[in-house]
Amino acid sequence: MSELLTISEVSGRSGVASSALRFYEERGLIESERAGSGHRRYPRPVLRRIAFIVFAQRVGLTLEEIGTELEKLPPDRAPTRRDWSRLSRGWSDRIDDRIAELERLKAGLTECIGCGCLSLDRCRLANPGDRAAGAGPGPRYWMGDRR
Ligand code: FES
Repeated sequence: MSELLTISEVSGRSGVASSALRFYEERGLIESERAGSGHRRYPRPVLRRIAFIVFAQRVGLTLEEIGTELEKLPPDRAPTRRDWSRLSRGWSDRIDDRIAELERLKAGLTECIGCGCLSLDRCRLANPGDRAAGAGPGPRYWMGDRR
């Protein structure tokens, strides 16, 4: 493969759809060069950047936060291992939160899916009068908010 990759090659190697790659580019998270034909061409190191974006999204970072993190990378050279590890150093709290969220989800799945009781005492889905809305958007009790 050449040093400059087509969007199809980047999509195939990264596992990220071409439409998502274009979206990342519109958001300034990745950059391409234009070939004479006007088609996008990506330098190979973009694959690591994309892997970072995908992983950061899984950890729970927003695209804005990811953009802020990526801006910390050196603009004048390929990032080193140290550059990349510096970015993810502060993620352990987020990963712990994510693990706790998934454990709640797992517990909720075994308790509630197919149960249907909506017990006011123990069900995380029960939300009479939508009192949970006062704490913010989303399924608040599943997210760990207390009643
Ligand atoms: S539906 Fe029965 S515990 Fe949630």
